Amino acid sequence: MEVDFLVIGSGLAGLTYVIKVAEKFPDKKVLVVAKGGQEDSNTHFAQGGVAIVQLESDSFEKHVQDTLTAGDGLCDEKIVRMVIREGPSCLSDLVNWGVDFDKDSKGQYDLGKEGGHSQNRVVHHKDITGEEISRALIERLDQLNNVKYLTEHFAIDLITEHHFEPRTISDSVTCYGAYILNEINDQIITVRSGITVLATGGIGQIYKQTTNPLIATGDGIAMAYRAKANIKDLEFVQFHPTALYDPKESPSFLISEAVRGAGAILRTIDGRAFMQDYDPRADLAPRDIVARAIDTELKNRGDNYVLLDCTFIDNDTFSTHFPNIKSRCLESGIDVHESPIPVSPAAHYVCGGISVDEYGQTSIRNLFACGECSRTGLHGGNRLASNSLLEAFVFGERAASQSSKLIEKVDLKITAPNWKSTGTVTSKEQILISHNRNELREIMQNYVGIVRSNERLERALKRLKLIYLETEGLYKKEKISVELCELRNMIAVAYLVVTLSQKRLENCGGYYNIDLK
Ligand code: FAD
Ligand code: SIN
Repeated sequence: MEVDFLVIGSGLAGLTYVIKVAEKFPDKKVLVVAKGGQEDSNTHFAQGGVAIVQLESDSFEKHVQDTLTAGDGLCDEKIVRMVIREGPSCLSDLVNWGVDFDKDSKGQYDLGKEGGHSQNRVVHHKDITGEEISRALIERLDQLNNVKYLTEHFAIDLITEHHFEPRTISDSVTCYGAYILNEINDQIITVRSGITVLATGGIGQIYKQTTNPLIATGDGIAMAYRAKANIKDLEFVQFHPTALYDPKESPSFLISEAVRGAGAILRTIDGRAFMQDYDPRADLAPRDIVARAIDTELKNRGDNYVLLDCTFIDNDTFSTHFPNIKSRCLESGIDVHESPIPVSPAAHYVCGGISVDEYGQTSIRNLFACGECSRTGLHGGNRLASNSLLEAFVFGERAASQSSKLIEKVDLKITAPNWKSTGTVTSKEQILISHNRNELREIMQNYVGIVRSNERLERALKRLKLIYLETEGLYKKEKISVELCELRNMIAVAYLVVTLSQKRLENCGGYYNIDLK
């Protein structure tokens, strides 16, 4: 298959890119592929909303300062300023594409507040903002005749010089498209594209406890790493403080930070409000501080969860803003108006990823990355709540505008080689794959969590190496399945999280190693 633009991933970042290039070039072919179904993305599950300056009492400068403070000195200030200034245009495009953000009785956007924000500035659709954004953008996609959207199509690898025979030796790598596995009929398609975009989302699934859906296995980051792109800051895994505590449920259901923004308070099981002991901003301190405080309380007390007390929030206010959270809690027998919600931290977001410039250009020619799989410099050591949907839009848009300039110069005459192997793995091997996947998630949960140490990191690395050798053994038989590819990707990403953690020499943002200052 030959296309002008290949986009891997249909979350907010990928879809923004697609809509922008498809609108600009009605005669060019745009292909967007996604593994699983339309709902399988982190975007779909986003709750709190999108941080965009609106109120007169607010300003770009205040949002910039909040972002820099959360990032703990590691943000790229130029990028922070740029992204935040583009907030209003993000809002107007999303609204034009049909996203319905909640308004108050005066017709103004109803603005939520979350940890680390000095102002109310989070536009949202109840507590299902991501579902609403996905719905509207997919409907917009349907109106674009030059876009082909293939769900259940899994990207295996990027096509680069490394796949050509004889291998061309060059200092810089170029991307020529990707190998895509049709999950329904197991056919592997060679997609030759002028420009390729990775918008594959996060890595939460490398942890046992995560808010991320099953698709979040870091595929784009692993593909880019294998293709020799620069990867940065993966040690900054963000743990959300308040996932519903239910050991039987995976992924964990999120209790939005906006609930604390509406006044909810964290307490130990015996009712003590503890956040004031850790930070003057108490329950609305940035996420890394709250997650670490909960972790400390749990370890000191030997408890499995803390409580999020919403019982004193006005019933109507809670029900209007958080209907989904209310009904999910009821399914677990918790009436949020009567009893506090048991919560514990869970892996939620990765601040690092594929290193890109201000246009989403990676270190590989004709390859862009945007959204959670990319590392733009916006988040530094810790992402400010509700800044990632904003980033996904802004970089989707900027990558599209840069690609528009590049596409006319791209040479599509070079033919890409076809994928070599045939066949799929046997069911016996599938069991080995799922054992290794579970083991990897345990390792990361136990040794590479909120609090790390040199010894824990070393243990994790040793165990990952074993899983790596076993998995490469299966892969070298040249048989393929989504599960095997995902496991390979998870190993690569976990390896990067551990080794980049080992290279970090001081604690900062969401990174905390007890052996460092
Ligand atoms: P995603 O939305 O994750 O999309 C990734 C896409 O890539 C999917 O379509 C997937 O199928 C596809 N894909 C992945 N690998 C492959 C492959 N190998 N082949 C083909 N396709 C592939 N952020 C906020 O700013 N505000 C919030 O309120 C908020 N709430 C959140 C709540 C939850 C429960 C979670 C999990 C995250 C939340 N976040 C929030 C974070 C935010 O949702 C994500 O960072 C953001 O949606 C990422 O968008 P994306 O487009 O980069 O990736
Ligand atoms: C939440 O609603 O708490 C999630 C917000 C985010 O991850 O930015």
